[in-house]
This record gives sequence, structure tokens and C-alpha cells, in this order.
Amino acid sequence: MLSGKRILLGVTGGIAAYKAAFLLREFQKAGAEVRVAMTPSATRFVGAETFSSLSRHPVAVDIFPDSSDSGDSWTRHIQWGEWADLFVIAPCTANTLAKIVHGLADNMLTSTVLAARCPILICPTMDGEMYQAPATRKNLEQAHNLGYHVLEPEEGYLASGLEGKGRLPEPQQILQYSTELISSVYTGGVLAGKTVLVTAGPTREHIDPVRFISNPSTGKMGFAMAEAARQLGAEVILIHGPVQLSPPAGMETIEIETAQQLFEAVKTYADADIVIMSAAVADFSPSEYHEQKVKKEQAESEIKLTSTPDILSWLGHKKRDGQVLIGFAMETENLLENASRKLNEKNIDWIVANSLTEPGAGFAVDTNAVLLLGNSRQEQLSGSKKELAREILDLIFNSK
Ligand code: CTP
Repeated sequence: MLSGKRILLGVTGGIAAYKAAFLLREFQKAGAEVRVAMTPSATRFVGAETFSSLSRHPVAVDIFPDSSDSGDSWTRHIQWGEWADLFVIAPCTANTLAKIVHGLADNMLTSTVLAARCPILICPTMDGEMYQAPATRKNLEQAHNLGYHVLEPEEGYLASGLEGKGRLPEPQQILQYSTELISSVYTGGVLAGKTVLVTAGPTREHIDPVRFISNPSTGKMGFAMAEAARQLGAEVILIHGPVQLSPPAGMETIEIETAQQLFEAVKTYADADIVIMSAAVADFSPSEYHEQKVKKEQAESEIKLTSTPDILSWLGHKKRDGQVLIGFAMETENLLENASRKLNEKNIDWIVANSLTEPGAGFAVDTNAVLLLGNSRQEQLSGSKKELAREILDLIFNSK
């Protein structure tokens, strides 16, 4: 997929700079031509000669020409910005991130960011505390808003000796993300330019601080839907309840716990082009919440419940022209009848109906068997949740 593609690799001054050398090789092995721009501090971690030898091309560090530079140095940031099909900044320090989102152009790398005409992938890499710092959080949000692609760092052992989120993802993962990015941008993924809101996982409705009403949803199907939408070029916002899954790369993720919190978060993105409600939303929550753990001697034998808002129905009844709403239905009997009723009553476009009694379907398994209903169509689909997610979107958005 990267064959013949031109990748500009930006390396900034973090300890993970050495990993960029491996990443460069991965890009080359995938068929890409690579050039490297470094910040001056990156050269303190890895010598520019390493990258010039591997890329078989001079490395750009200084914006001002020196005696050894060729005559194009004054405008190199413009030429390289035009040359690249993809600009990957890995690792990207908190400092370079801050400069990029504020439009600073104080070195070769940041100047080339401003001049670039291609998609730019930022791989923020730093110590966990720096990553969580309010200024960095704001800068990352701004990076998303400005249209930069951001590959979130991984959790793990950091150079500081601490555990936390801030590690540069492995070169293979950056390669995979870059390949998907290039394929969605240059082959025009069917969802390119679309905003897709996906909800996933269960909600928890607390009775007291240690007890709640929930369901066995693992979030796997919803996460697969979010990844499939991203692979088709969409900008994805994933809102999810408590799950044991790592956040998928390249999208904004928001964690919620209760149905009410999910509702509030959904409202913020309610005018997304496409909404996929895969969350298993609790239909009821306890009418009363006990601030302290209820002692069993004092517990009443009945819990009063209040209905939670039907979020999908709310979306369906304020649906705007052109918006596509996709719901899920989990049934134990009368699949077709119940799913068709939900499709109509909630005023949505498509419903993916799961039968909990079907072998290989339902909660916690990696496969699923579903009935896709909508637009006067009815399709029976089965496979791994990842394959199914892609197939559902392909069928709905006609990319096949
Ligand atoms: N849903 C929602 N808000 C709720 C309950 C469900 O938005 N309070 C959404 C789910 O995310 C799913 C669809 O509605 O996309 C159908 O959910 P499901 O639980 O199958 O159906 P319910 O409407 O809750 O009906 P029932 O429990 O009676 O089957």
C-alpha cells in the first residue's frame, strides 16, 4: 500500500527518537521513499547521520543553510512540504506539539508542518505526567480540531522509570496506521470527510458506591464499528462505558459510566453525520442512590427503578436531513419482529439485530451473527466482530 508513496518522517527530541530509525526501515520495507526532518534537540538523542544513511538522503535540521547544504536550503521546508504524501512526526514531544498547534515555525520541522499539503500524523510521546498535563490535553484537542491525525501513545514503562501513558507505539503499529491513513486519503475512503459518533460497551447504574446494575457487554462490537469507520476515512468519536479494551488509535475516545452521562456526551456530538449506537444502555437506574454502602441488615428487599432516557429514540426524533442513524438490538426471541419495531419506533435508518441464542453470537465472544435491517433490505451476516463491522458499513454505504 505504501509502494511509491513519499513519507516525510519528523523526529523530535525525546528518548524514543531511536525508535524512529526502526520506523524508517518499516516504511521502506513497505515500499515508501522516506526523508527525515529532525529538530535540533532530536540530534542529541540520535545522530542525523543515522537517518541520512538509512534514508539515503540528507536530513533536514536547520532552516538556515550552512556551507555543506545544497542551494535549495532556503526553501527546503516548502519543497519538502510539497513533496510528501504523508508527514509522520514520531516521536512528537510536548514542546513540538505545542508549537504545531500554535502555528510556530521556529525550526525546519515546524516550518515544514506549516508548509505541508499532505495529511500529518502526530505521535505524541512523553512522560505520563506531561501527557496528562492540562496544557498538553488542550493542545491535543486543538490538534484534532485543526485536522491533524493523532496516534495516541501507549501505556507502559517510561524512560523516567514510571509506568504511564506516553510510550511511542511500536513501529509496526505506526506503519499500520499510516497505511490506513494513506489508503483512506488517497483512495478516498467512502466515509472520508464524515464525522461518525460510535457508542460502545455497557453503562453502570449505581445503587451505592459498590453496587450497580449493568449488563455483560464487552464493547467489542462497538470498538470494531469505530475502527471500521476510521478505516473508511471517517473522523470518529467513540464514547464508551467501562470496558477492558485499549482505546483504538486515531480517534477521540470519551469514557462514561451511566446512561445519563452517555446521553450528555451524545448530545455534544448529536449532529454527527452518522451515529452508531452499539452501547448496551441500561434501561433503568435505581431511583435512589445511597452515598454510603448499604449495610445488608438495612437493605430493603426491593429496589425502585426509574427509566433512563432512550438516547437512540431521542436522536431519531430530532434527526436532521442526510444524517444516518444505526442502532443495535439485542434479542432473545422474535428477532425480526422486535428489531423491525425498534427501527420504526426509534425512527432510525438501520438496525443491527443480534440474537443472544444464536451460536457464536452475543456478549463477550469475538464472533457475531446479525440481521441487518433497513432501507427495505434485510441481510443475514456472520463472522468475526471486526469483519462484520466492516461488512455492515460496506453494505450501508455501498462501497462494494
Ligand atoms: N438504546 C438507547 N437508550 C436506551 C436503551 C437503548 O439509546 N436507554 C439504544 C441501544 O444503544 C441500541 C437500541 O437502542 O442501539 C436498542 O437497544 P435494546 O436494548 O435492544 O432495546 P431497547 O430499546 O432498550 O428495548 P428492550 O430493552 O425493550 O428490548
